[in-house]
Amino acid sequence: MRLLNRLLYFIPAAAIAALLLLLVVVDGHGCSATGVAVDPSNKARYDHFRIYRVLLENEEQVQLMQQLENRSDSYTFMGHARHTNQNLTIMVAPQKIAEMTDLMERFKIGGSVLLYNIQDLIDKEDSTVMPKKTSPEQFDWQHYFHLDTIHKWLDLQVSKHPSILQSIPLEASYEGNLLKGVKLSKKQGNTAVFVECGIHAREWISPAVCTYILNELLTSTDADIQDLAENFDWFFFPIVNPDGYKYTFEADRLWRKNRKPYGICRGVDLNRNFESDWNGIGASSDPCAYDFAGGSAASESETQVLQKFLKENAHTSRIKTYFSMHSFSQLIMFPYGYTADKVQNYDDLQTIGERGSEAIRRSHGKEYLSGAMIETIYPSSGDSVDWVFSECGVPVAFTFELRGPPDSTNMFILPAEEIVPTGEETLAAYVAMLKAARELGYYGSGETHKGEL
Ligand SMILES: *[C@@H]1O[C@H](CO)[C@@H](O)[C@H](O)[C@H]1NC(C)=O
Ligand SMILES: *[C@@H]1O[C@H](CO)[C@@H](O)[C@H](O)[C@H]1NC(C)=O
Ligand SMILES: [Zn+2]
Repeated sequence: MRLLNRLLYFIPAAAIAALLLLLVVVDGHGCSATGVAVDPSNKARYDHFRIYRVLLENEEQVQLMQQLENRSDSYTFMGHARHTNQNLTIMVAPQKIAEMTDLMERFKIGGSVLLYNIQDLIDKEDSTVMPKKTSPEQFDWQHYFHLDTIHKWLDLQVSKHPSILQSIPLEASYEGNLLKGVKLSKKQGNTAVFVECGIHAREWISPAVCTYILNELLTSTDADIQDLAENFDWFFFPIVNPDGYKYTFEADRLWRKNRKPYGICRGVDLNRNFESDWNGIGASSDPCAYDFAGGSAASESETQVLQKFLKENAHTSRIKTYFSMHSFSQLIMFPYGYTADKVQNYDDLQTIGERGSEAIRRSHGKEYLSGAMIETIYPSSGDSVDWVFSECGVPVAFTFELRGPPDSTNMFILPAEEIVPTGEETLAAYVAMLKAARELGYYGSGETHKGEL
């Protein structure tokens, strides 16, 4: 009887597994960037989708929000409901607005609607998105650009500055797009800064700031900036999730993950896929979730090539500093994301982060909070900064959340006119943070310097 039960259970389970495998295999051969919905009429739309910001004040409200996230994909949570005294941002589909209103009344949840129609923002932003075929000569920081233009702009810079700039075309993505990086080096013996951008597809300000800062290092006559260009080597990877980035232009503006299929859903959150406390707190094992950690640690080719490159270069190229650029929330954060244990150089990183915040405040008056990841945003595991800090011994490792504030009314859809000021203040933060870390002894060359944690 038991055996029969097991068999009955086993047969459908095996059939489903085989079917899933088949789906993966069949899709796996469509690698040549075919599946994307280029026809604009097939783009995801967010008409009358609202953004709510609620404050959870009691345990009942926390549990209600957990159930809501669990049960319905009409509610998209930015972060998860975890504890009382927590502000939470939720995107609500139009057919659920009445239900959401009722729930907030019944459970006395305080909060407000930050935005009444997400599609309006996307439509407005459209006029600042340059066409796909835009040539790299037309590149600027008043518009957002497709993957192809950004890659061609990088090539153009390498051809303009051949003696100091080198192309690093990593082959990786599922759809066959390059993870294109560059190395800037003006002299021997520098320690290096690695700047990772665009790991989350929809955070368009990240690649834009990345190219802005690279351009400043190449062209600025400001003494502080020339000092950075001269006395550090720089690795810039403006878009480490190229498939996802492409998809946000062609199909769904709010896509976050890469595009690898897992059964009926797609995409791994690459910033949950690194081999440090993989699939722990703040990551999901559900392929349909926005923070899906992947099939296994470093299951994704994008993660694999980055890990390999960093492992190989952390020592030989003396990478002592790592910046991972995200949006939004205005934060400057250091490890860890997965545990409240403090890193060995917590006080130093706190100091360096605060110098960054001060520089940003002086620049355009924006308030950035600095602190350990788990203290400032929410727990996360398998992220690149924890990994590079723990596994590659990069002692000065930060995640930035760029503009806007936590209660931003445009979230990932930052107006293009804010690219330049965001770039300016971020570069000011880099100047201040690298100066602080240098003073603390992280880039010295003696036996005792702090670069060898
Ligand atoms: C989410 O749903 C699953 C089943 O669908 C259930 O096992 C789990 O306990 C639920 N979690 C919460 C927090 O409600
Ligand atoms: C929640 O947001 C409100 C309004 O922005 C703010 O005053 C409050 O300090 C926030 N609370 C927490 C715990 O972040
Ligand atoms: Zn992000």
